[in-house]
Amino acid sequence: MVNSSLPFSSPSPVRSVRAVPRTSGAIAVAVRTDGAVPRGIGLSRRALERHGFTAKVGQSLVVPRADGQTVIAVGVGSRPTSNDLRDAAAAAVRAGSRLGSLAIDLISTGSSARADGRAVAEGALLAAYQYPGITKKPLTSPRFSEIAIVTGGSAAAERGVREGVVTSRAAYLARDLANTPPAHLNARDLEGIVLQLGEQFGFGVEVFDEHDLERMGCGGLLGVNRGSVEPPRLMKLTYEPRNPSAHVALVGKGVMYDSGGISLKPSDAFHVVMKMDMSGAAAVLSTLTALKDLRCRVKVTGYLVCTDNMPSGSAMKLGDVLTMRNGKTVEVHNTDAEGRLILADGLSLAVEQQPDAIFDIATLTGAAMAALGPDIAAVLGSDAAVIDRVRHSAEATGEPVWPMPLERTRYRRLLDSNVADMRNIGGPYGGCITAAVFLSEFTGDIPWAHLDIAGPMKVDGDESWRSKGATGFGTRLLIDVVTSW
Ligand code: BES
Ligand code: MN
Ligand code: ZN
Repeated sequence: MVNSSLPFSSPSPVRSVRAVPRTSGAIAVAVRTDGAVPRGIGLSRRALERHGFTAKVGQSLVVPRADGQTVIAVGVGSRPTSNDLRDAAAAAVRAGSRLGSLAIDLISTGSSARADGRAVAEGALLAAYQYPGITKKPLTSPRFSEIAIVTGGSAAAERGVREGVVTSRAAYLARDLANTPPAHLNARDLEGIVLQLGEQFGFGVEVFDEHDLERMGCGGLLGVNRGSVEPPRLMKLTYEPRNPSAHVALVGKGVMYDSGGISLKPSDAFHVVMKMDMSGAAAVLSTLTALKDLRCRVKVTGYLVCTDNMPSGSAMKLGDVLTMRNGKTVEVHNTDAEGRLILADGLSLAVEQQPDAIFDIATLTGAAMAALGPDIAAVLGSDAAVIDRVRHSAEATGEPVWPMPLERTRYRRLLDSNVADMRNIGGPYGGCITAAVFLSEFTGDIPWAHLDIAGPMKVDGDESWRSKGATGFGTRLLIDVVTSW
C-alpha cells in the first residue's frame, strides 16, 4: 500500500449487500440466546446446545449443509450492542477462515444500524489481520476473496460499513507500523512513509530534522536521541477542512526502539516488544489517514515525536539537565523514562498552536499496565470534558480506558529536583500518575487528556478482533474523538 520496501497489509474487500449472495462460500448468521433459531441454520436450539453452542457473544459453530453451503452460527447474546456485534463478526471470520468468501448477516435494522454496520465491518476486517512479517512464509490468517455484509438495504448500515472499512484500514496501518522490526523502521523511514501517506490521504506534512530541532530548542527529543546513530524526526501533520468547527491537536510518542538508554533494559522476551514503543505515533498518523474519507469537520494537527532510545558513548547521562521547548528544565534520573522527555517538546509545540484541546497517546509506563492489566488504557488529564470525550469514544469503539487521578497537589513534589525545574521520575509508586503529572508541566492552559497505552499496545495471541501482536489501540478511539467533536 505504501513504502514498497515494507510488506504493508491490505484488508480483504468488503461490500454491503441487501441479501446473502448465492456465491458466498459461507454465511454467518446471528443466533440469540432467546427466541427462535434462524431457519437457515437448519438445526434446533436443542441440537445447537448439544454441540456446546449456547449463543453467547463471540461463540461460533460451523454447520455444513447438504446443499453445499456452510452456515456459521454466531452467538450474539440476548440484546446485542454494537460492541457485541464487533466481537460476533470477528468470531465469524475466525471460524470461516478456510471458506473463500464470507457473507455476514448480523445487523438488525434499528436505531443503531450505522454503529452496527461499522462494528461488523471492523470486527471482520480486524480479525482477518495478520502481520505478514519479513518472510516468504504464506499467511495463515483468514483470507477472503470477499466479505459481504448484509445490510438489508439500510442506508445507515451501509454508511456504517463504509466507515468501518476506513477505520479498519487505519488500524491496519498502525498495527503494521508497530509490528515492523526496528531496523526496518527508524525515524527517517517513517518520514518517507508519512510523506507518502499525506499525499494519499489528504493531510499536510512538515518534517523537522535534528538541525531544525536544535534551532527550535527541543531539548527533550534531542537529549533522548543523543545515544543513537539514527537522527530524530518530529513530524507535524495537518488536516484542515473548510470552515473547521474546532481545532484538536494529537501528540504521539514515537520511540522507534526503547532500549532504556544507559538505564538499559534487561534482554528478556518482554522487551522484544519495545519496537512497539512508537504505537502512540502510529495511532496519531493512522488517525490522520482516516479524516478526509470520514469528512471530519474538525481541524486536526498531529505531532509524531520520533527517535530511538539507545545507550552509547554519546548518550545522555543520569544527572544531565535538558531544556525543553517551553523553557522548563529537567534533570534526568532514569534514561528509560524517555517518553515523557520527548512528549514534553511535542506538547509544548502543540500548546503554541492554541488548539481547543490536546490529546496525547503513549506507551508510557509499565505502571499503567500493572494497574489496569493488558487490555485497558489509562486516561488522565486536566479537563473533565475532554476526559469524558475519551471515555465516550472508548465505549463506542470497544477500546477500553479507565481514569486515574492527575494528582498534582500531592504528587508534584515527587518530581522535585535540586538542580532543575523537575526530574523525570517520581519514585517507585504511582508511576502512571507521576508520568502524567510530569506531562502536565507542558500542556499550558489547553484542555488536555493523556492516554497511557502500554498495556493494550499488543496482545499475546488472537483474541476476538485483536490479532496477535500490535493492536493499533487508540487509532479508532482517536478517530472517534475528532469525528464526533
Ligand atoms: N516504553 C516504556 C513503557 C512500557 C513498558 C511500554 C512496557 C510498554 C510495555 C517506557 O519508556 C519506560 O521504560 N517506562 C519506565 C519508566 C520508569 C523508568 C520510571 C517503566 O515503566 O518502567
Ligand atoms: Mn523507556
Ligand atoms: Zn518507552
